[in-house]
Amino acid sequence: MTAQRIYDTVADDFSRVNDLIIQRLSSDVPLVEKIAQYIIESGGKRLRPLLVLLSSQAAGYGENDHLKLAAVIEFLHTATLLHDDVVDTSDMRRGRSTANARWGNAPSVLVGDFLYARAFEMMVELKSLRIMEVLSHATAVIAEGEVMQLMNVKNPDLTEDQYMKVIHNKTAMLFEAASHTGALLAAASEDQELGLKEYGKHLGLAFQLVDDVLDYRGDAEAMGKNVGDDLAEGKTTLPLIHAMSHGTEDERQLIRQAIRKGGLDDLPRILDIVERSGAIEYTMTKAREQAALASGCLKCLPESAHKEAMVLLTDIAVARVS
Ligand code: IPE
Ligand code: IPE
Ligand code: MG
Ligand code: MG
Repeated sequence: MTAQRIYDTVADDFSRVNDLIIQRLSSDVPLVEKIAQYIIESGGKRLRPLLVLLSSQAAGYGENDHLKLAAVIEFLHTATLLHDDVVDTSDMRRGRSTANARWGNAPSVLVGDFLYARAFEMMVELKSLRIMEVLSHATAVIAEGEVMQLMNVKNPDLTEDQYMKVIHNKTAMLFEAASHTGALLAAASEDQELGLKEYGKHLGLAFQLVDDVLDYRGDAEAMGKNVGDDLAEGKTTLPLIHAMSHGTEDERQLIRQAIRKGGLDDLPRILDIVERSGAIEYTMTKAREQAALASGCLKCLPESAHKEAMVLLTDIAVARVS
């Protein structure tokens, strides 16, 4: 309901962005177009383009380049997903088989590269060095985040600080870049530029914290991806970090072993420990803190429907867990 209100604020622009996305997927190489269309047309929440539309307009932007910028950000996001599903050996995304499950790893990686490249072609058309600077930096940081995470697969000693750094890089950075470049497009004041940039960062952190809770608490159908994927991969996320430091010694050892092994053999017991140790509540508290920080960053903006939608978005980000 409320989510719909947010999309309604920019409904016309949103459908123009979707048209542009489809139009710019074109390629003379049939398999490129087929895989790119497959993942793009399977939907997704389009949160990051939404962020571009809202932030640019909340900062007073009145022209049309925000549509292209929004499409660029969704292409970057989709490229990271194609690569991420290969790295994570995931077989479900957006309610469908992943591209790697259907066509294999090699085409997924290469079509991910195509989407990055197409995003950069379109970015150049915006003719803003500052925007290119922010987005090329964000792309590098995301890749670093994914590599940092890869280096820590099956490592039960990952600390909360290290975890926060990983999720900042792999996820929050693109949210931050979306709202920051929206502000840059609108030639916002320095104060507003910083506020919008920080808003995106905190919203992105809240979003990933909740995503990591959903991996233990979610409903696969609603999420469009499997529950327990993180544990299966041996990925140490905050719910497990907290459960390890607050459970009994036996529970701690069980989780450590499960992370080292990967796989889902221990999922039922671990779900129980995660639940009882207060790890879900702890992670959600952290997510709510980030959502509140995001909302606070909006005080730099004048009142508008777009700003109001951005406040609502911080509520929605943490309301995905019941
Ligand atoms: C998935 O992002 C990757 C994460 C950062 C958790 P989304 O949940 O925004 O994915 P789509 O675009 O809606 O499918
Ligand atoms: C996704 O991280 C972040 C990026 C795509 C860079 P995850 O691996 O945690 O997200 P899901 O669970 O596959 O969506
Ligand atoms: Mg993944
Ligand atoms: Mg991943």
